[in-house]
Amino acid sequence: MTFLDDKDRIFTNLYGFQSAGLKAAQTRGDWDGTKKLLAMGQDAIIDQVKESGLRGRGGAGFPTGVKWSFMPKAPTAERPSYLVINADESEPGSCKDREILRHDPHKLIEGALVAGFAMRAKAAYIYIRGEYIREAEALQKAIDEAYDAGLIGKNACKSGFDYDVYLHRGAGAYICGEETAMIESLEGKKGQPRLKPPFPAGAGLYGMPTTVNNVESIAVVPTILRRGAAWFAGFGRENNKGTKLFQISGHVQNPCVVEEAMSIPFRDLIEKHCGGITGGWDNLLAVIPGGSSVPLVPAAEIMDCPMDFDGLRELGSGLGTAAVIVMDKSTDIVRAISRISYFYKHESCGQCTPCREGTGWMWRVMERLVTGEADLEEIDILHDVTREVEGHTICALGDAAAWPIQGLIRHFRPELERRIRDYRGTAQPMMEAAE
Ligand code: NAI
Ligand code: SF4
Repeated sequence: MTFLDDKDRIFTNLYGFQSAGLKAAQTRGDWDGTKKLLAMGQDAIIDQVKESGLRGRGGAGFPTGVKWSFMPKAPTAERPSYLVINADESEPGSCKDREILRHDPHKLIEGALVAGFAMRAKAAYIYIRGEYIREAEALQKAIDEAYDAGLIGKNACKSGFDYDVYLHRGAGAYICGEETAMIESLEGKKGQPRLKPPFPAGAGLYGMPTTVNNVESIAVVPTILRRGAAWFAGFGRENNKGTKLFQISGHVQNPCVVEEAMSIPFRDLIEKHCGGITGGWDNLLAVIPGGSSVPLVPAAEIMDCPMDFDGLRELGSGLGTAAVIVMDKSTDIVRAISRISYFYKHESCGQCTPCREGTGWMWRVMERLVTGEADLEEIDILHDVTREVEGHTICALGDAAAWPIQGLIRHFRPELERRIRDYRGTAQPMMEAAE
């Protein structure tokens, strides 16, 4: 296992110790020889990204270079291609793109230029979460600086390539982070997901070929090209390459966002960067390793798990955005999952019945389990309902609502049964005030 040295870090201003401005970014290596990177040619850039093993950092892990290669090789004036950058970071637990946006925005803008060039796009639209006000300000400032310096816009970096970058602010809906809902929202419509296929590469923004990529996926590209695909692929393991921003929250001594090598074992990640678990390792109860959409993993199973796509999938969970939510034994695990259920009920766009009705139904049963009001057989009924929602909806929000509950039932059924025996009628529903 190769751990990351400071010299290997791509994001060297993650904590904002230096300025986010252009001059400081250039001293950190951004915009260094960008024209030369573009001179590699579109196909060579895409090949390098493929060889680096970079997989999408927004949660789904789709190979980035492969995604770019779906874009047309010869777009026309009537049918231009677009790059959309997903900065709508809203997954509970996720807060990595925020750090890039406010402290290292030039990495994203340079990445947007290189990626857009490689996929022959006309422009990039960065869709930023509405609540990210400071981040939007920092990003807009950086975009303006890049225009003023001739790095983007007409004849970007004196390469002969014309390329605009637009910033678009969302209005606070989680579902607009889903790529097709984001496209709808950019077009000025209500942010509701579209059926896929067609995938955006075939029919995306304004019906044109479009690639939607996460902030981190785009921001690492210039460094990969400068240092070489083999350098990036030297971290992690087969199928799970590169460096990754981990966001560790909850019951650790030092919650943080940190860039580490992919596949770092869970225990090492926490020891090295977070100072351990509050109350010691024996006090660890469970971990949600990839943002609220993935099932929790009990303490004993996750300790030596490589923190990557395959390692966590083997445990029945997922890397997602690598938002690692650590819960010690003081956590009311049933209440925590019920709170997540409430979130999905609240954020469902209501377009498809299993999600619209199912998320509310699942949350209400979860609340009955929190208070112990439920009957024992409701645990199995709830599980059956999660299976009916999973895979039967237009977008992944239905799955995201079902999986945390499935994880809870799989790993904490005795606790659910204990509450029904012991708690009946003794606790108040958690969400009463919110309803
Ligand atoms: P997905 O697996 O449907 O697609 C992933 C990407 O690959 C998309 O860009 C899609 O267009 C592309 N793709 C997949 N198959 C393709 C094909 N055959 N041809 C062309 N393109 C193809 O996953 P989705 O729904 O985009 O993302 C779900 C993930 O998002 C979840 O795993 C979750 O972790 C994450 N998520 C992240 C959030 C955040 O704040 N960063 C918020 C909510 C969810
Ligand atoms: Fe909307 Fe939920 Fe259907 Fe997604 S799964 S389209 S959020 S109703």
